[in-house]
Amino acid sequence: MRQQIKIVEVGPRDGLQNESAAVAVATRIALIDRLSDAGLPVIEAGSFVSPKWVPQMASTDAVLAGIRRRPGTRYPVLVPNLKGFEAALASGVEEIAIFGAASETFSRKNINCSITESFERFEPVCTAARRERIRVRGYISCALGCPYEGEIPAGTVADVAARLDTLGCYEISLGDTIGTGTPRAARRLVDAVAEVIPVERLAVHFHDTYGQALANILAALEAGIRTVDSAVAGLGGCPYARGASGNVATEDVLYMLDGMGLDTGVEAGAVLEAGWFICDALGRQPGSKVSLARRAHCAG
Ligand code: HMG
Ligand code: MG
Repeated sequence: MRQQIKIVEVGPRDGLQNESAAVAVATRIALIDRLSDAGLPVIEAGSFVSPKWVPQMASTDAVLAGIRRRPGTRYPVLVPNLKGFEAALASGVEEIAIFGAASETFSRKNINCSITESFERFEPVCTAARRERIRVRGYISCALGCPYEGEIPAGTVADVAARLDTLGCYEISLGDTIGTGTPRAARRLVDAVAEVIPVERLAVHFHDTYGQALANILAALEAGIRTVDSAVAGLGGCPYARGASGNVATEDVLYMLDGMGLDTGVEAGAVLEAGWFICDALGRQPGSKVSLARRAHCAG
């Protein structure tokens, strides 16, 4: 049997949160429905954050109310504090993600508090989630570098991962927020964090700003990673990391994994179509090389 890799599709959240144009709720819903039809097991549907900070994620409640929930797919949302948790709960979510950072400066820029204060906010969120039987995923931003502080030691990331583990996160996603990491650093990172959290409970979340994301994923796979975050059409960036480009494109990850004989259960053709759907709506080309190559091949 082919080995399974889990893809966590973050385009509707990480991707669309960074678009300068507001994307209509109906378009966000239609994108998620297409991704569901492609068989993606996890689709991040939006965020319950302050609309003053990230207006693109306003109306996530309306998005959740409108999507067709495919059995077998989970639809987590980002939650920074109890206010966000309560809104997520009212929208019927079954899974949330809390998001911290391994860099003090990035933490302040992104969520307006220090790392220590962020854990003081996460604690009641996780207690409430446990009470409501809601699964919690944890993110660590700047795991391979910070736009303000530069290099971040892998040991610092491992310390933050251990704290998220103590809060009860079932999975911890290591974010290369600005995409500056290279394969050897990615390998060192996964090895260091795997000393405190079993590698089966880690995920990698690589942005592709420097074109290193696929190589870094390969290094992470070699270190035992089996969960990969990616965004359809390579959408995205981070509003608090200027110049950061999108997540690695789901289409490109699927192509590489298939070539390696690794299975995802995802229908690649349907993801390609979902990518063109959202890029047509945004008025631009997909950031997926596979997508562009396939389109050129069909045209030629
Ligand atoms: P704050 O200003 O310190 O919060 O922001 P506050 O508690 O003082 O509240 C200020 C105002 O926000 C109040 O409204 C609150 O009601 C409201 P006002 O009285 O001024 O009208 N508010 C909220 N509204 C809706 N939902 C909420 C909420 N909380 C407060 N949950 C806060 C602190 C965390 C809220 C803010 O900094 C924020 O929303 N930040 C979000 C940042 C964000 O979404 N960043 C992008 C996602 S992270 C990412 O992309 C990285 C990742 O992909 C991994 C990687 O790549 O590294 C995950
Ligand atoms: Mg991200």
